Amino acid sequence: MDFDELINQLDLGTKIRLLTGADMWSLPPVPEIGLDRVVMSDGPIGVRGEQWTSADPSIALPSPTALAATWDVDLVRQVGRLLAQEARRKGVHVLLAPTINLHRSPLGGRHFECFSEDAYLTGEVGAAYVEGVQEGGVATTPKHFVANDFETDRFTVNVQVSDRVLREVYLRPFERVVSAGSWGLMTAYNAVDGTTMTEHSDLVNGVLKGEWGFDGFVVSDWTAVRTTEAAAMGGTDVAMPGPNGPWGERLESAVREGRVPESVVDDRVRRILRLAHRVGALRDGTPATEPGAPAGELSGPAGEFGAPIDGVALARQVAARGFTLLKNDGAGPGSPGLLPLQGVTTLALIGSAAAEARVMGGGSAQVFPDRIVSPLAGLRERGDVEIRYALGTDPRIRLAPITTPATARFLDEDGATLAEHPLATTEARWVGQLPPDVDGDLLKAVCLRAAYTPDVSGDHELSLAGVGPFTLTVDGETVFDATIELEGDDPAAAFLSPPERRVVVPFTAGRTYELAVTHPAGAFGGMAFVAYTLGHADPTPGPDELIAEAVRVARDSDVAVVVASTTLEVESEGFDRTDLRLPGRQDELIAAVAAANPRTVVVVNAGSPVEMPWTGQVAAVLLTWFPGQEAGGALADVLFGDAEPGGRLPTTWPARLADAPVVDVTPVDGTVRYEEGEYIGYRGWERSGRTPAFWFGSGLGYTTWSYDSIAAEGTTVTVALTNTGARAGREVVQIYAGDGDERRLAGFDVVEAEPGETVLTTIFLAERAFQTWDGAGWRTLAGEHPVTACHDYADRRLSATVVI
Ligand code: BGC
Repeated sequence: MDFDELINQLDLGTKIRLLTGADMWSLPPVPEIGLDRVVMSDGPIGVRGEQWTSADPSIALPSPTALAATWDVDLVRQVGRLLAQEARRKGVHVLLAPTINLHRSPLGGRHFECFSEDAYLTGEVGAAYVEGVQEGGVATTPKHFVANDFETDRFTVNVQVSDRVLREVYLRPFERVVSAGSWGLMTAYNAVDGTTMTEHSDLVNGVLKGEWGFDGFVVSDWTAVRTTEAAAMGGTDVAMPGPNGPWGERLESAVREGRVPESVVDDRVRRILRLAHRVGALRDGTPATEPGAPAGELSGPAGEFGAPIDGVALARQVAARGFTLLKNDGAGPGSPGLLPLQGVTTLALIGSAAAEARVMGGGSAQVFPDRIVSPLAGLRERGDVEIRYALGTDPRIRLAPITTPATARFLDEDGATLAEHPLATTEARWVGQLPPDVDGDLLKAVCLRAAYTPDVSGDHELSLAGVGPFTLTVDGETVFDATIELEGDDPAAAFLSPPERRVVVPFTAGRTYELAVTHPAGAFGGMAFVAYTLGHADPTPGPDELIAEAVRVARDSDVAVVVASTTLEVESEGFDRTDLRLPGRQDELIAAVAAANPRTVVVVNAGSPVEMPWTGQVAAVLLTWFPGQEAGGALADVLFGDAEPGGRLPTTWPARLADAPVVDVTPVDGTVRYEEGEYIGYRGWERSGRTPAFWFGSGLGYTTWSYDSIAAEGTTVTVALTNTGARAGREVVQIYAGDGDERRLAGFDVVEAEPGETVLTTIFLAERAFQTWDGAGWRTLAGEHPVTACHDYADRRLSATVVI
């Protein structure tokens, strides 16, 4: 397609209009040249769509730490294809994903949304994700370019990092996804070496578009473009969201007055047209599928993108593949581990996350699945084991919405209904975009209604989370009527981590109550914005009684499974964590349960590391990460051995936060200095001489392996290994190159074998594992390099030498 011919048909105003969003999620159409609206939507675990609401469901896959824990690039590619299928179903052309920043400090708030501490693993998993999504005709925007590895002061913070470390560590995954052919990329909020990333011409024009030859489009993070000329010259092509922003008329004047060359604008328009052409939004491209079909079911236009993928089945499979078994003790030395469970007839299932799983992290990574299978539901579905549930303790600070059919009624000034939309829970959310049948100019309030029938009598708690005036009625009687004020000065907190107020309401079991919340519809940066939650909690006995009850249930059961989790207040966007402790009294609960039943399995439902002081007291520890909507089915599969836990840690797991090589993420005078250089993750641990709870790459399956032989030829390593256990299994063969704290992951592969079977794997080692950035280019470190084939970073099985 001749993009220049199309550009020549556009006047300057139209070209500039294309460089800023038309609204929260799309670029404006230009029908004269056959350009449709180009629609973007957040990932990475699903495709939320243009409306931030449960009324517009999406498949919810496991979070990125779980994806990386599979170390399985073929599976990740399939995940990408499913996401493309979801995107097409919802009329989305560009998926704002994957997040490929690194796990520098375990306190990073969006750690769960990034893949790994290791740049190579991140790059390989990220590349497979990009390829999968784009094979489905949908663009990706790996984000956030670059050094956006923590959240504190994220809009303004400056990261000071050496050129070499930037190249070898933080830019490396971006370089990899560009080589995989990503059609887009997102510039970050933060600055690097004093220049904010949307204005960072050296890195965006110089490295990305110049050296790496990136021909895709560069979109800003939301509101990250803050200047006219500097950002216009900085390489970011599209400022999101719109329609307001620092470009528009101001950029037009800058071009007319010769301060910004028109060729810069033309280059951007060319990139947008190329994007539109690639995703089928430019005439003659493949049209996006009509929106409106049910979640996870449709393929693209007939047959074009292969057979439809069953999203529910894939979500369950990926979850189990990412589950990482860190400990699995038997009754004594030599006896098989407690997992997979055998001969169990009664199982005590304990923890709030067992009944209400944390299937994803918070913030813009949130999507709304149309079903969530909790561990309780997944285990009960098996039918052959008696599941005895006890809450134990509830660490959540905010109450969860009620999962019950609800409606949101959009009201005008006179209280007349403009539109009514069904909701799957009592959470009302439309961020930036209202439903298409609601006229934002007429909207004055949104009323949420739900009929609720409690199972137990007593004093229930109802809560409102949001900002602004709220009225809550129960059967028409007002129980709350007040204004909730925003805490802090980050306006995004109004929907990412809103304040909450509670009221106590007596309910009788079996009676149905009409709950109604009325809240004025607000505007945020000129955009319509509705975000509030009606939460609920059953009456509960005191916290000590809850733990005592869990202990009693555990003692009387064959096995105890405690599901421990972080909360929305801990792992989300816009803030970092302050410690790695499991919130609330969960550590105490686990210790008490383990003392009552030695056959205790702890399931850790968290997207990033938590301290596990009770590890020595329990029989098994299984990380499920944020497992996505099919959490409970996958957990049942793994606990009972229908599937093997396939995961290996994509990040080193500290025993204590203070031991981690990088902890602090607090800017000093607006700057965070990456003083540790390349020594993050296992290289930092190695250098510090400290021992983590579990090394990078750790994870057990249900069988055992002998590593039989290794041979190296050039940078190709061949390993033979045998499944020495009694059941079929999978192993992630990890190859590290170098010595001491220079040792790094250079290649990996997933193998499968039947009991007794020997398999061979040939692994091509990454060129960059034997190179360093010398200021002007990559310099190959010629000579002999030791390589080790390992089960995990510390568990070395075989060694060889490669000669470069
Ligand atoms: C996040 C991005 C996200 C964007 C749009 C930003 O706050 O940092 O990751 O894609 O919002 O929701």
